Amino acid sequence: MKKKLIAGNWKMNGSLAANETLVKAVVAGLPASLTCDVAVCVPAPYLAQVQTLCAGTGIDLGSQDVSAQASGAFTGEMSATMLKEFGVRYALVGHSERRQYHGETDEVVANKAKAALANGITPVVCIGETLAEREAGQTEVVVKRQLAAVIHTNGHCISEIVVAYEPVWAIGTGKTASPEQAQAVHAVLRAQLKAATDKADRIKILYGGSMNAANAKELLAQPDIDGGLIGGAALKAPDFLTIIRAAA
Ligand code: 13P
Repeated sequence: MKKKLIAGNWKMNGSLAANETLVKAVVAGLPASLTCDVAVCVPAPYLAQVQTLCAGTGIDLGSQDVSAQASGAFTGEMSATMLKEFGVRYALVGHSERRQYHGETDEVVANKAKAALANGITPVVCIGETLAEREAGQTEVVVKRQLAAVIHTNGHCISEIVVAYEPVWAIGTGKTASPEQAQAVHAVLRAQLKAATDKADRIKILYGGSMNAANAKELLAQPDIDGGLIGGAALKAPDFLTIIRAAA
C-alpha cells in the first residue's frame, strides 16, 4: 500500500528558538515505527537549522517555494539547486497564498514544478478553488485547469509529483471540506492523472485546509486522500503528532 504523507506547512511562522522546541517535541513523540512519510515545509531562512534538527529522524525537509529559474538576476528567488544543498526533498509550488499575493499563474506554477523535478525535488503542487468558484459550481473546472497546466508542462515526469488539494475557503478558516466533499474532488483529480499516466495510482493526493487533530482520521480514511498538508495544526507538536498517528 502507498504510504501516506503528512506535511506541515509552517507558512511565515517560527523563530530559531520556537523551531527547535517544535521539532524536538515532534521527534520525541513520533511513533517507534513510522508507517507514513512526514515532512515540514519551513521558511527559507530556517532550512539549515531544520535540516540539522531533522537529520536522522525520519522527518523530511520541504521548502515553501522554488524558483522556476536556474540562476541569475532574480532577486529574492531561490533555485532548486540551492534548496537541494540543504537536503530539501519537497517544495510546495502554487500554494494559494502565492497565487493570491504574488500573482503566480498556472503557467508559473507548472514551471516551478518542472524546475523542482529537474533537480530531484518533489514538487507538492497546490490547487484549489475559492469560495466564489465553489458557489458558482466551478470547483471541478478550476482544479482541473490548475492541474492540467502542470501535466502539460511536465509530461511523463508527472508521476513524480505530489498534489495537494486545498480549497481556499478551508485554509486557516476552521472550515474543513467534509470527507465526502474532499474525496469527490480527489477522485476527479485521480481520474485526470490516470488519463495522463499509467502510474497515477502512485501519485499522492494530499488534502489541506483546516485539517486538525480532530478531523484528520476521517479525512485520511477516504480512498483517494493520501495524506495531509497541514498549516496551523503543524505548529503544535501534540496536534501534528495526532495527525501523524491518524495516518500511520
Ligand atoms: P491550515 O491548516 O492552517 O488551514 O492551512 C492549510 C494550508 O494552507 C497548508 O498549506
